[in-house]
Amino acid sequence: MCGIVGYVGPNSSLDVLLAGLSRLEYRGYDSAGVAVIDDAGHIGTRKRAGKLKELLGELEETPLNDGKTGIGHTRWATHGGPNDSNAHPHLGDNGKLALIHNGIIENFSELKQEMLDAGESFTSETDTEVAAIMVGREYRATGDLTESMRRVVARLEGAFTLLIVHEDSPGVVVGARRNSPLVIGLGDGENFLGSDVAAFVGFTRRAMEIGQDQIVTIRPDSVLVTDFDGAAVQNTEYEVAWDASAAEKGGWASFMAKEISEEPEAVANTLRGRIHDGAVTLPELAVLDDVVLAGINRVIVIACGTAAYAGAVGKYAIEKWARVPVEVELSHEFRYRDPILDERTLVVSISQSGETMDTLMAVKYAKASGARVLSICNTQGSTIPRESEAVIYTHAGPEVAVASTKAFVAQITALYLLGLHLAQVRGTLSAEAIAENVEELRAVPEKITEVLEVSKSIGQLAHWMTDTQSVLFLGRHVGYPIAMEGALKLKELAYIHAEGFAAGELKHGPIALIEPGQIVFVVVPSPRDPSSLHPKVVSNIQEIRARGARVIAIAEQGDAAVLPFADEVIPIPLAGSFFEPFLAVVPLHIFSMELAMAKGLDVDQPRNLAKSVTVE
Ligand code: G6P
Repeated sequence: MCGIVGYVGPNSSLDVLLAGLSRLEYRGYDSAGVAVIDDAGHIGTRKRAGKLKELLGELEETPLNDGKTGIGHTRWATHGGPNDSNAHPHLGDNGKLALIHNGIIENFSELKQEMLDAGESFTSETDTEVAAIMVGREYRATGDLTESMRRVVARLEGAFTLLIVHEDSPGVVVGARRNSPLVIGLGDGENFLGSDVAAFVGFTRRAMEIGQDQIVTIRPDSVLVTDFDGAAVQNTEYEVAWDASAAEKGGWASFMAKEISEEPEAVANTLRGRIHDGAVTLPELAVLDDVVLAGINRVIVIACGTAAYAGAVGKYAIEKWARVPVEVELSHEFRYRDPILDERTLVVSISQSGETMDTLMAVKYAKASGARVLSICNTQGSTIPRESEAVIYTHAGPEVAVASTKAFVAQITALYLLGLHLAQVRGTLSAEAIAENVEELRAVPEKITEVLEVSKSIGQLAHWMTDTQSVLFLGRHVGYPIAMEGALKLKELAYIHAEGFAAGELKHGPIALIEPGQIVFVVVPSPRDPSSLHPKVVSNIQEIRARGARVIAIAEQGDAAVLPFADEVIPIPLAGSFFEPFLAVVPLHIFSMELAMAKGLDVDQPRNLAKSVTVE
């Protein structure tokens, strides 16, 4: 939430900042702004409420003198509405210093009062401006940008990434981070800072992590990292695994369309190198070795949003295969309810971004409470993996559209690999049963490709639904979290009221919502499913049909029992019951996207949302 980019080097900083902001816009798009120190040593800023294109328009109308040092920001509003004056950068030291911020400064009211008492004045309602004013005052006292940052962060509470530039210190950008993300991009005679590597991957693929409570000072030819007390620290450099083209739309109408089309690859790449001879190998679990995993007596999956629904799918499989109880909990509920944890509890966090603050706080809490902590994450070098004992990276590639799609199927893949690995270690499945499941997993990408093909007709279905006020989704077993994910996606993208229910729960209340014309999506289990859930769900379809609902069934190819009762059937290929979620979710993702597009909405950047929610 909020994207940050900084640059020092020989090139046009405006070019670098605007390229970075366009890649970071998914983090928030309430406003955008830049500050640049021009070649004459003067600082200039431009900022505008709205998406980046508003800032571009402003820069065209009133151009900014370019220079070689600058910072840029794209905002997701927390304190103060999304207007021009609350947009970042904020200024200090009589306009000579510019500062941008991601996070929330929790003690800002006291600090603001202190500044007001000292005679300072404010032009915005943000918590950020107080930091700009404080750093400006420290700079007047010390003449040293890094030292000024150090003195101010010592007084801040909450979560923050801050970047500052001062016109009396051209060629220097100073950053600091606590609980919010910041990464260094290492160039040749130039250096970068970004909320994530997308900010600078178009210019360099060499990156370096910045740890918790650290300050970084970049100049064209040097990078200095210290802790908040000023002691130098050595951080690890790494190569970014993808290049800028992976984050481009590549001819698709939207990132969402591109990312849904990449769902097969997301699964295939997450499996790559992890299955051999019908078994699972996860060397990345090293510290959570076989002895530790054989000894755990409980798994708690923590996540938010779509990642939590992936966790809910994983629960069914892990319990079945590894015979260990699995709870799935929203990170923010887990963190504040005093959960019972010990060294035999394995906490598995799931996060595409690796930065979701609710999940990060829950991970830290679990670790401090003595639980073993493993993460499933899609973003190399992000904070949650660094706070965990081990990480299984999903290799879905960069996900830019705000609402998560391809990361979801990659997360289920990682959970299934974990479930099978636990079953191997704990001896709860035979080698043949493991090999069968591995084979099913291996077949998933090709089956998703088939579903993508048949789902092309969903666009027409969506087009006659643009006036729909409410859509319900039903599913059972692993189809239940898929119904929840279908409903979430529709809310996020098309702003339509939607709810997902366990089909068995229908008769206990939700059936009262059914009236003539109500659209209900039903995720139908396979008729070959040994648990005999299929006839029960078919009965549910009849019950709602009898009350006038319009039923759209997602059912296995050749499922004749559904045909007489459904208004539409979206066929999915045959798969073992645990593997249906990979296939059933695809038409639901496409449906939400198509309906949002038919309503003329921006599917990549839905209103009020941000991809990386770095506030609690
Ligand atoms: C935001 C996004 C969702 C995402 C959730 C969790 O709310 O809009 O699409 O599922 O965050 O994000 P994470 O990065 O932790 O998976």
